[in-house]
Amino acid sequence: MDELVVTGGVRLKGRVRASGAKNAALPIMAAAILAEGPVRLKNVPNLADIRTMTRLLRELGLRVEREPDGDMVLENVDPDKVLAPYKIMKTMRAGICALGPLVARRGRAEVSMPGGCLIGDRPVDLHLKGLRSLGAKLEVKHGYIVTSCKRLKGTEMYLGGPFGSTVTGTANILMAAVLAKGQTVIECAACEPEVQDLGRMLVKMGASIHGIGSPRLVIEGVSRLSGAEHTIIPDRIEAGTYLVAAAATGGDVVVEDARWNDLFALIHMLRQAGAVIEHFDDTIHLVAPKRLRAVDVTTLPFPGFPTDLQAQMMAMLTVADGISVVTEKIYPDRFTHVAELNRMGAAIRKEGNTAIVQGARRLSGAPVMASDLRASAALVIAALVAEGKTTISRIYHLDRGYENLEKKLRKLGATITRVKAKD
Ligand code: EPZ
Repeated sequence: MDELVVTGGVRLKGRVRASGAKNAALPIMAAAILAEGPVRLKNVPNLADIRTMTRLLRELGLRVEREPDGDMVLENVDPDKVLAPYKIMKTMRAGICALGPLVARRGRAEVSMPGGCLIGDRPVDLHLKGLRSLGAKLEVKHGYIVTSCKRLKGTEMYLGGPFGSTVTGTANILMAAVLAKGQTVIECAACEPEVQDLGRMLVKMGASIHGIGSPRLVIEGVSRLSGAEHTIIPDRIEAGTYLVAAAATGGDVVVEDARWNDLFALIHMLRQAGAVIEHFDDTIHLVAPKRLRAVDVTTLPFPGFPTDLQAQMMAMLTVADGISVVTEKIYPDRFTHVAELNRMGAAIRKEGNTAIVQGARRLSGAPVMASDLRASAALVIAALVAEGKTTISRIYHLDRGYENLEKKLRKLGATITRVKAKD
C-alpha cells in the first residue's frame, strides 16, 4: 500500500489545471445505458472511481473503451444484463446511478444496496421513493434493490429529504424520467453543477428537460435517446482544494479550468479569510494574506458551501487567527478528519454537527491516517502547512478522487512523494 510523505512549510506558487469532474463523469457514464448508439465523453478524469464505474458498466453489458487521446467511448452491447453486483457496489456508492437508467431503458434492474460510509448515514430512500412514484414495482431483497416496470409513467414529485436535495437521487430520477411516458416534475431537485452537466448531456441525447440548474425540473418523456458527444465540466472540488491549499500555505496560485460560478461560495469564504482572488475566463488566481482570519462555515446544498470542501477548509482554519465554527448540515457526522488534525497539533472540539476550531496553531508533522476522500485532502493541506515531515497512510482514498495529486502539488513547489508503506 502506498503512503504520501510531505515536508511542510512551503508556500505554494504557480499554475495548476483542474481535471474533469468525478461527480459529473460518474452519472454521465451511467447515462450511456439510455443511449441507442455510442456515447463519446471527453475530459473524463483518470481515477479509481472512474475505473470502478467502467467495471460496473461492462458488467451491465456496455462496451467501455478509453481511446489513445483519452476520450471514453461507451456503447450498449448486451441489454439483457441488469445485475449490479455487491462486489462492485460496496466499493463505490455512485454505482447507484445505474438504477434509474436500467429500469427506464431495460424495464428491470437488480442493483445492490450501497454499503456503509464513513462520512455518515447515507440512505437511498429518496431514490426508491422517486422510482416508485414513476410507477416502478420495487422491493429490497437480500441486499438488492429489485425493480421492474414495462414503461415508467411521468408524475409530479417532491424529492427533498431531511438535509435538502439529493445529488445522485436527482440524477437517478432524471435519468429515469427522460424515457417515461408523459411529463415528470421534480421539485426540490439538486442544482449542483454536476447535475446540470448531466442534464445538458441528456438534452444532447434527445431528452426534453426544462429548468436545468433550478430546483424545479420539468421533463417531457421521449420514446428513445441517441448517442452523443460531451465534454465533462472541470472538477470544482479539486479546483477548490488547490485554492484552499494555496491560502493555507500563504501562497500565490493560479488554478486553470476552475469555473467561478461553481466555486463562488468558497471564494466568498476565502475572501472573508483575507485572500485576494480574481478570475478571467475559467482561471482563478488566489494570493494569500500574511495572516488568515477565522471565518464561520456552514455546509449546504449548491449554491451553498460544499460539504466536499468542509474538511479542507477546516485544515486551513487551524492556522487562521481567531476561532472558527464549522457546521456540517449535509452529513452531520462528517468529522473523521478532526482527530487526525488534532494529532498534528490543531485544537478542534466537536459538538454535534459543529466543530469549534481554535486557530493560530503551529501544526507539526506526524504519521496520520486517511479515512475518506475529502478527509485525506485535508490531511495533505495540513501536512503542507506543518513543520517537519508528515506521513499519510491509506491514500487509496485520495486516488479515488484526485488525479496526479502529488505531481500537481510538486509543480506548485511542494515537497511530497509517494512511497510504498513499510509494514
Ligand atoms: C453526492 O453524494 C456526491 N457524490 C458526494 O461527494 C457529496 O458529498 C454529496 O453529493 C453532497 O454534495 C457523488 O456525486 C458521486 P446526497 P450523494 O444524496 O448523491 C441524505 C465526494 O467526496 N439523503 O446529495 O450520495 C444523505 O444522507 C462525495 O466526492 C437521504 O436522506 O449525496 C445526505 O445527508 C462524498 N436520502 C444528504 O441527503 C436519500 O435517498 C445529501 O446526500 C439520499 C440522500
